[in-house]
Amino acid sequence: MTVEQFPAPSDVAGMYDGIGQIYGSAWGPNKHYGYWENDADDSSIEVATDRLTDLMISGVAAQAGQRVLDIGCGIGHPALRLVRACDVDVLGISVSHVQVARAKELAAAAGLADRATFQFTDAMDMPFPDGSFDAAWAFESMWHMPDRGQVLSETARVLRPGGRLAIADVIERGPVSPEGRVVLDHICENYAVRSLGTVDEYRTALAANGFVDVEIRDISDNVSRTLAVMADAVETVHDKLADLVGEEQATSLIDFMRLSAVTPESGYLFLTAVRA
Ligand SMILES: C[S@@+](CC[C@H](N)C(=O)[O-])C[C@H]1O[C@@H](n2cnc3c(N)ncnc32)[C@H](O)[C@@H]1O
Repeated sequence: MTVEQFPAPSDVAGMYDGIGQIYGSAWGPNKHYGYWENDADDSSIEVATDRLTDLMISGVAAQAGQRVLDIGCGIGHPALRLVRACDVDVLGISVSHVQVARAKELAAAAGLADRATFQFTDAMDMPFPDGSFDAAWAFESMWHMPDRGQVLSETARVLRPGGRLAIADVIERGPVSPEGRVVLDHICENYAVRSLGTVDEYRTALAANGFVDVEIRDISDNVSRTLAVMADAVETVHDKLADLVGEEQATSLIDFMRLSAVTPESGYLFLTAVRA
């Protein structure tokens, strides 16, 4: 890795082990957005975030006994749900040692330590043999990657031919107004993100890396409530956040969450593809 690469694994870990832990204390074990069916859906954070996991589970469509790679595993909550739903073995990777340790603890507590394993690994350079997984998902981790094309290339390499890939990711939707640009820049500057992807970028990068049968859904409308709900949740731990980043920055982070919730340029996609 060159010194210019941003975000470095330590930048991502610093974010998740810092403000991420405080957000998590208010949000729960799923470190991703929630999915609401429509405006009338009053599902809790727990139900809505598990529902997005279930969408990803349907996306990888793994069969019993298969081996699935979880790229950017958080503390392993989605991986454990995948193991239970599909009777598969999952290897989760993260660039946070804290997350990997917690994921191992949770897997052991669930009696699934032999089915769900976790290790510190940078998705930009994976130490796995060619074709060693039947399926993979990158569940809201791609926005942190210094080079999404490089991660897709690595993923294609470690997937067997015919292996399925599912991705959920925060993206940028154009055209971007000046006000939207302020929000998108805030996301990049505060959440260890070099730049947000777009639907067009994904289509090009997937094709360039040998993925076929690409299906992309813009699910921004279903997940956009996340930011407003998260702002309310994080407000309850405002003091802890202010202790870490200062009062002004804590208020700014929460204010921008509310702004992101109503910024159409702050989007989200769900995609599936098959390694040719
Ligand atoms: C938004 S969290 C999602 C966690 C988990 N997938 C979930 O849904 O609960 C993003 C995850 O991506 C991981 N990540 C970011 N950059 C990574 C990289 N270069 N290699 C591996 N994991 C990475 C982070 O450590 C974190 O676990």
